[in-house]
Amino acid sequence: MTQDEIKAMVARAALPHVLPGSIIGVGTGSTVNHFIDALSSLREGIAGAVSSSNATTARLRGHGIRVLEAGEVEQLALYVDGADEIDPHGHMIKGGGAALTREKIVADLAQRFLCIADASKKVEVLGRFPLPVEVIDVAATRIARRFAAIGGRAVLRKGVVTDNGHPILDVHGLAIADPPALEAEINQWPGVVTVGLFARHRAHACLLGTPEGVLTLQF
Ligand code: A5P
Repeated sequence: MTQDEIKAMVARAALPHVLPGSIIGVGTGSTVNHFIDALSSLREGIAGAVSSSNATTARLRGHGIRVLEAGEVEQLALYVDGADEIDPHGHMIKGGGAALTREKIVADLAQRFLCIADASKKVEVLGRFPLPVEVIDVAATRIARRFAAIGGRAVLRKGVVTDNGHPILDVHGLAIADPPALEAEINQWPGVVTVGLFARHRAHACLLGTPEGVLTLQF
């Protein structure tokens, strides 16, 4: 089984979690792309989706799925998204696809976050994957120095501007022992738009794809 086949398998396994006729939050990335493709096969369909990126919006619309703005819904029952890393508590690093800010906004609307990922994303301690941080550009140098002070090496992601028009720093070398505390700390730094640490907005469950099948982790 290739990694792409595993991603497709785990994406299909998320379908039974979708309430027919509901509005669903949809994340971003290659695993989610398989989920969007699978969504169109739901017999009773969904009422619509709140999207976390321009790329996801285009794919949803390509399947004829109605896309609503985040401001049009008060609450979502479910948000489905991938992750770059997930720890044993459901804390995640996200933002490898640069969509972290809207991903967190849509996750915040949802009562339940279902993570879909292949087994390579499961770690004991977050931080081997560089932590993405969307920043206001004039603050980037100051924020990079703050990361250096806590042992991180922030690198500007070249040629990337988010859907919101901001640059991204990828922070290497952090071993994140206490994700909720680090997320709260970084959120205080002026010029940080969003840190790609999803601790407060952690996953409630994760469907983890392995060559032997799909494991369900509950957090
Ligand atoms: C997008 O910004 C990320 O948060 C994605 O959720 C993450 O990069 C997972 O992507 P893949 O499904 O492509 O691995």
